[in-house]
Amino acid sequence: MIGTGGTIAGRGESAANTPAYACSVLGIDEILSAIPEAAALASFRVEQLLQIGSENFNNDHLLKIGKRISDVLKDDDVDGVILTHGTDTIEETAYFLHLTLKSPKPVVVVGSMRPPSAMSSDASLNLYDAILVVIHPASRGKGTLVVANDEIHTARDVMKTNSFKLEAFRSPYGALGYVVEGEPRYYRKPSRDHTVRTEWSIDALDSLPKVDIVYAYGALEQEVIGTVAADARGLIIAGTGNGNIAARMVEPLRAAARDGLHVVRASRTGNGVVIRNGAQPDDDYGWLVVDDQAPQKARILLMLAISSHSDDRSALQAAFYRY
Ligand code: DGL
Repeated sequence: MIGTGGTIAGRGESAANTPAYACSVLGIDEILSAIPEAAALASFRVEQLLQIGSENFNNDHLLKIGKRISDVLKDDDVDGVILTHGTDTIEETAYFLHLTLKSPKPVVVVGSMRPPSAMSSDASLNLYDAILVVIHPASRGKGTLVVANDEIHTARDVMKTNSFKLEAFRSPYGALGYVVEGEPRYYRKPSRDHTVRTEWSIDALDSLPKVDIVYAYGALEQEVIGTVAADARGLIIAGTGNGNIAARMVEPLRAAARDGLHVVRASRTGNGVVIRNGAQPDDDYGWLVVDDQAPQKARILLMLAISSHSDDRSALQAAFYRY
């Protein structure tokens, strides 16, 4: 069990005053010791890898977490890993692990919306459920999982969709399963390639290319594109609706793509498919589309795809349809 901070490691002065809690203060051993039932389920080794809110996680944190989990999974004594994590960016770290770990052993990423000190905290139950999931044979080979609020989600799809409610986590096609009366029950499997079936191994990655996200809105200014293009290899443009691009933004984006920036159309709705050559002639402009990936997920995938395919745009596009 590896701790990185977040609300699951938070503590408040009062059970009733949850917004005033301090985040990332409890050690992973303290969090685990709040669940006496855990000892009967498995034997645990715990380590505190980080102790910070996940809104701070950059690419170096992703690499550090991934490499440590990869090392731990290589130990024959280890059957699986639970990573405790702030919920804000849990979907990005989990997806990164899903694409880069090379093991069929289960990895479960878990956080909570309320600190352990709060009334009706979800911290202990989410962690207890994560333990039930990680030790269950049916969790093997499913890639990285995110457990929250009685649900088991695939890292590819899950997103935090609410800023404060316990039922904050949603996958567009539904959860893979539930934890029901102390037992994981799966109803579906991830269908896109992950872990042992991807082209990336965390052990071989020492840096990630810079990919930025630009969020489209009515008054978005053209100059933003030049600023991004100055030092990024890729740009996810979180366009309106079906990846629509305002007329005044087309020329700056075409120029950036001609100069080598990989421009990928996504949807700021965070749901649905962006259709290639639909709202824009992507073939003519040398642009890419995300398929159904939300902008923050698409950034993770594009970083990895650029790391192995560099400037081959058809291979980059294929990655969005494969993973
Ligand atoms: N600081 C936020 C984070 O670590 C707290 C949110 C949470 O963990 O629920 O992501």
